[in-house]
Amino acid sequence: MAEIKRASVRLDSAYRIGEIDKRLFGSFIEHLGRAVYEGIYQPGHPSADSDGFRTDVIDLVKTLQVPIIRYPGGNFVSGYNWEDGVGPVEQRPRRTDLAWRSLEPNTIGTNEFARWAQKVGAEVNMAVNLGTRGIDAARNLVEYCNHPSGTYYSDLRRSHGVEQPHGFRTWCLGNEMDGPWQTGQKTAYEYGRLAAEAAKVMRWTDPTIELVAAGSSSTRMPTYPQWEATVLEETYDHVDYISIHAYYTNYENDVRNFLAKSLEMDEYIRTVASTADFVRAKKRSKKQMNISFDEWNVWFHSVEQDKSVKPWTFAPHLLEDIYTLEDALLVGALLITLMRHADRVKIAALAQLVNVIAPIMTEADGSAWVQPTYYPFLHASTYGRGTALMAVVDAPRYDTSEFTDVPMLESIGVLSEAEDYLTVFAVNRDPDTPLSVAIDVRSFPGFAFEEHILITGDDEKATNGPNAQNVKPEKGPKQTVDDGYLTVQLPSLSWNVIRLAKR
Ligand code: AHR
Repeated sequence: MAEIKRASVRLDSAYRIGEIDKRLFGSFIEHLGRAVYEGIYQPGHPSADSDGFRTDVIDLVKTLQVPIIRYPGGNFVSGYNWEDGVGPVEQRPRRTDLAWRSLEPNTIGTNEFARWAQKVGAEVNMAVNLGTRGIDAARNLVEYCNHPSGTYYSDLRRSHGVEQPHGFRTWCLGNEMDGPWQTGQKTAYEYGRLAAEAAKVMRWTDPTIELVAAGSSSTRMPTYPQWEATVLEETYDHVDYISIHAYYTNYENDVRNFLAKSLEMDEYIRTVASTADFVRAKKRSKKQMNISFDEWNVWFHSVEQDKSVKPWTFAPHLLEDIYTLEDALLVGALLITLMRHADRVKIAALAQLVNVIAPIMTEADGSAWVQPTYYPFLHASTYGRGTALMAVVDAPRYDTSEFTDVPMLESIGVLSEAEDYLTVFAVNRDPDTPLSVAIDVRSFPGFAFEEHILITGDDEKATNGPNAQNVKPEKGPKQTVDDGYLTVQLPSLSWNVIRLAKR
């Protein structure tokens, strides 16, 4: 029997990090692999609705309550002509997508995606192409989507059967322009100038929109973090957010090191926030530049097999990572990290949502099913709305090949919007040591134990599949608050959602 170690989490109703923007629980659908075709859209599938959208997928997305979904890319957007995806479907061109070496029929475009987003109750976070295109295509797209009527592009939209403007609020200025894999890669200065001019005219077209400048693709880019400094020098007055992306891997098969990678995300956010503050100081600006972490996830399982995927095919099986229990635990720790930075990270996107490095998978001739990573996202999106509270964590620590002083316990508290529920999210990232955690809730008089939901298991490599839910939430034992402390047992390798309700 493994030795149980003690840890504590102190929460105080006065120690508030900030309101959690609901857009922190956003996600992403790209024209990539089977995300769109055979993912959200599959006419002829038994669950397809009259628009060809799979209702089994719609139901799972609705359960996740994803408030905002980034579209149409990703790398795809940097070679995309938005005009290809509007108007009569039979006249739309079939194109080569250079980003993923696939065929794009353009059956789904802006209006169809907006319709799907409406069905799942999400806003669209629209990306414009700043790879092969420029300010003209960007401002025309804003006019097409958001202008009511009486102009060329708004009337074109109406002639396509969409009378009311979409009113998309959040817009990404290109994607990962720092990467050599990007169609139309740019230097930070080239991108910064283009993004500033595009932002300016897009906002002239619709002053209500919010704009996201593209930051680094990862902390491993040679240009990081000078990229952020240069881009913000050029764009600071024209944009509202700087974006960052990160994907985490476990090629070394080292669970302790892997589960510590949320510390890398933490440092990434702090560095980009500081870089933005440096530019702010130089500009004597009163504006705080917030962060859109608009691609984050675990991504490595499918990388090798994707090398043998046949190019120039339609809806190929690409980036179809099959996730494990340990991946779900890292996703949980990353969600905690994002919530901990609620004062600075206002938008985020779990990349992606369906079939492509996704929590939701589909079988072409079967049902949709959920991966282990679906659950921590579901819990955070459901119970993580409200005010993020500072959690003072005292836990045993360990060192790994890449990190020192890693606490076994990752945790945060969230007070619900009505201040009637307190949720403590916690990951015990140690593979051998169960933790007995005393949660100090003395400053929440009247709050009583409601439930303990947990995800754990003996096999950290356990996966789910179309016919197997090996990794799924279970209920922990009932507990009581004694003298202001709630003590809960967190098994080794576990994701925990501990909820208290005001009585
Ligand atoms: O999400 C998959 C890809 O990862 C995106 O297209 C790109 O932006 C990133 O490199």
